[in-house]
Amino acid sequence: MLGYFNWQRGRKHVHNRQVVDLMVADIKRQSPDQIVVTGDLVNLSLEEEFHGANAWLQTLGLPDRVTVVPGNHDAYVPLEWSKSMGVWQDYMSSNETGSAYVNHNAAFPFVRINGHIAVVGLSSAVPKPPFIAAGRLGAEQLVELSTTLHKLGRDGFFRIVLIHHPPLPGQNRKRKALDDAKALKQILCEQGAELVLHGHNHTDMLQTIETVHGLGHTIGVPSASAAKAGHRPAAQYNLYKVDANGRAEGCTVTIRGFDPAEQQFRELRTFKLDTELKT
Ligand SMILES: [Fe+2]
Repeated sequence: MLGYFNWQRGRKHVHNRQVVDLMVADIKRQSPDQIVVTGDLVNLSLEEEFHGANAWLQTLGLPDRVTVVPGNHDAYVPLEWSKSMGVWQDYMSSNETGSAYVNHNAAFPFVRINGHIAVVGLSSAVPKPPFIAAGRLGAEQLVELSTTLHKLGRDGFFRIVLIHHPPLPGQNRKRKALDDAKALKQILCEQGAELVLHGHNHTDMLQTIETVHGLGHTIGVPSASAAKAGHRPAAQYNLYKVDANGRAEGCTVTIRGFDPAEQQFRELRTFKLDTELKT
């Protein structure tokens, strides 16, 4: 009920389906190989919302091209898996090559491998009391993540970790932060990850971390449905180009954002990440 009032008072004046549709059309014009979505597809976690979000995902692409991890709004209240985010299971599961790198008894982390790129999906989505938008991975998922990152690093993959909440300590106020960010950071530093992509803060963020393998980067995007810029940016998404020869060539990021005056998406800037590893 509180979430509904929150939507009526503020969020519905910011988030707009038309902006999302324009973004999807713009993404398709760029024809990326893979699309990743870092959560908060629904608002109140009503059963109907999960089916609506699944219909939207199908417009984005088939599950072999689109990967999703859930956000705190996707677990706003406790619901059966099959009646909630389980509806999107095809978008949140390992592919055949990736399944060799995970524990099959757990839904997360899952791994999808395409060429030399491994996408690792995490869930920080857990129901929380009113006014708390924090997330948690939990000890079990963290242990599995450590093993998975180790194996993927050993086999030379460019590792992209997906998580809804900003992954590092201090990236949000406690009531909106990842509870176990300190433990996650330690695993990222010890095992390495070339990129960690997240959402949740509704703003663009970039932070580097020193890992045993060299520099890793955590990158956050603004909401995909924000119709106007206020104290947070209007909608954006990022295009990542990872060199086919491997990690040493680095990764180019192009930020495309919604221009409220023109009512369309346009390129905001392009830059190269220094993802070269020491090995
Ligand atoms: Fe969120």
